[in-house]
Amino acid sequence: MILSLSTWKHGFHPNQVTIEALNSGKSALDAVELGARDCESDIACMSVGRGGLPDATGEVTLDASIMDHDGNCGSVAFVRNYEHVIAVARRVMEKTPHVMLAGEGAEQFAEREGFEKTDLLTEKAKSLWEQWMAQPDKLHVRLRRAEEGTQEYVFVHGDEPEELVWRREYTPGATQGQQENSHDTIGVLAMDSAGRLAGACTTSGLAFKLHGRVGDSPIIGAGLYVDGRVAAAVATGDGELMMRACSTFHIVEMVRQGIEPAEACERALERIRQDKRLTGDKQCGLMVIRADGVWAGRSLRPGFQLAAASDVLPNTLFDITANSMEKARF
Ligand code: GLY
Repeated sequence: MILSLSTWKHGFHPNQVTIEALNSGKSALDAVELGARDCESDIACMSVGRGGLPDATGEVTLDASIMDHDGNCGSVAFVRNYEHVIAVARRVMEKTPHVMLAGEGAEQFAEREGFEKTDLLTEKAKSLWEQWMAQPDKLHVRLRRAEEGTQEYVFVHGDEPEELVWRREYTPGATQGQQENSHDTIGVLAMDSAGRLAGACTTSGLAFKLHGRVGDSPIIGAGLYVDGRVAAAVATGDGELMMRACSTFHIVEMVRQGIEPAEACERALERIRQDKRLTGDKQCGLMVIRADGVWAGRSLRPGFQLAAASDVLPNTLFDITANSMEKARF
């Protein structure tokens, strides 16, 4: 069988790219890279690659990781001016004895490897950063899409009790698109026709983060973990939660012990719920593929979606909650 999963609605097109790559006989590793690259070039997606929202100083800094069936992995963190950080992460994996390069060193490596320099900050992202700068309490505001399908955003305050934030941010009847917020990332998992698993994760991270902040996406075992004999898992959402819980490693280890993939995601979320710093504005979405192709997705709250495609399932968007997955109305 072949199978691909991608996080969020903005993962729908990348997931199509991934499944087509698998269909044409590409390896899981090549396919997840192609899917992730597709999102990195999509400037409508404001949490990944070019078009991603900048940090507090107005600079776009990217994090990414990639991992193959055999446990080889590469990652980069705090990278400026290179759009395809997932490809740079893969080059770290394939051409260096290291797992992770960060900041200037990662940028120098990308330059030496011939990656093209790009200005990552789009006019739209710059204008939202300027609006954020004008907010009186800017450290505690987050973005939410104002209307389904538009590129208009509203600022919401995120430091209030869970119930209040929940009611305002996740209003019953609000569309999925409105519930997407400033913090998403793309994670792609794939299984190829030879049964090999691979995963990729790439992001501009938390919008308006402190300069120098690195999230979970480039941290092996937090944002991404693959053991081809067992499972592949990827995480999206508020990276600090998954970094403290090592969520993707946790999921793969539970699957290794015989726990069903969906149950493993639920237990990983239970662990995150015990985090004393969890507040009502924070989201976490998890996806897993077991080595036999059984897959699942779960999230702390409604609002998370994933795209899934296989040789028997056309690319389909699913609404995910803490204990369910349902085909989305789109
Ligand atoms: N999950 C992406 C981040 O927190 O940076």
